[in-house]
Amino acid sequence: MPPGLQCFLRERGAPRATNAGAVPPENTVKDDRFMGIDIDYIRSNIENFELISVSTNKVYRFTGGHDKYILKIGHESTDALSPFWWGIKEVFGSTFDTQRDNIEDTLLLLDNPHIQTARFVMKSHRHKFIVFQETEGRHYEPDEFPRGDWMGYQLGQFIGCIHSKQYDYFGHQASRFRSGFKEKMLYAMSAIIKEYWADSQAVHDYYGKIRHMDISPASYSLIMPDISANQFVFDEGFSSIKAVVDFDAYVMGPREWELSVIEMCLENCGAFKQGYEQYGPLPNLHGHRDFYRFFMYLCDPWEKQDLASFMSRNIQF
Ligand SMILES: Nc1ncnc2c1ncn2[C@@H]1O[C@H](COP(=O)(O)OP(=O)(O)O)[C@@H](O)[C@H]1O
Ligand SMILES: [Mg+2]
Repeated sequence: MPPGLQCFLRERGAPRATNAGAVPPENTVKDDRFMGIDIDYIRSNIENFELISVSTNKVYRFTGGHDKYILKIGHESTDALSPFWWGIKEVFGSTFDTQRDNIEDTLLLLDNPHIQTARFVMKSHRHKFIVFQETEGRHYEPDEFPRGDWMGYQLGQFIGCIHSKQYDYFGHQASRFRSGFKEKMLYAMSAIIKEYWADSQAVHDYYGKIRHMDISPASYSLIMPDISANQFVFDEGFSSIKAVVDFDAYVMGPREWELSVIEMCLENCGAFKQGYEQYGPLPNLHGHRDFYRFFMYLCDPWEKQDLASFMSRNIQF
């Protein structure tokens, strides 16, 4: 049995926290279709579930009644977060726990006519898991989206629609900040540099450049800062997107951030722009792109890609 699971099962017997106010109530399944899928069912059967991926979460597939489900168990320790998740916590106050707490609201905010969201079934705060219905569709491993104008157009409509709703705060539903965005980003970047990039002169020089950029966002929208193809599932021929399935990183943040990242994952942004602009003009990324790309660059200190080519790759918007 994987060690995380032993831990999960062992915790099952742990007493409830005495400070009831600090622990959100365990979710009960209200939809009749999902009756029978509860903590006891999961506990009794988890050893037979199929482990389909281990990354930020341990992701399992299982069948209950006539339906297929996806169980995600938080797997990154809050004491040893990767640079990306640590930065998301510092800048937005968002953690795996707050994302799980707010999942119902996030899904409501993501309601749109272009790409469906995986259907939420239940969650457990005590056991740090969340269950969705499995969306029929194909997994795609690379960050870059499969080619195809329809897919780019559909993605553009989806993100344009979500970006058309704007807010005067960054953070998340329960933790709203109205000022200090750039300062928080600079703090996160300098801490990541100190920890992971101390010996890179190119990184120090680049930081010296971006820290003077005037990025001041005029408003914020719901964004996925690490948007890439593997956060979605696709139709059989990889010509359209069936659903968004990963909600861990959604935060209220600057639209320019998400657009600077998605630009790197699309071969031809023309169709994306057409779809996006059904909802409003695409923000100008000039004067913003370098700031957000540099943050994303810092978050992968293991591969140590060439900084100059990362920053100039696939500039399309
Ligand atoms: N509700 C779902 N329906 C179908 N497939 C899913 C669902 N949730 C996750 N998956 C599959 O599992 C993979 C990993 O899930 P994800 O939420 O992205 O976890 P992580 O980012 O921790 O790896 C996805 O790329 C997708 O292929
Ligand atoms: Mg993912």
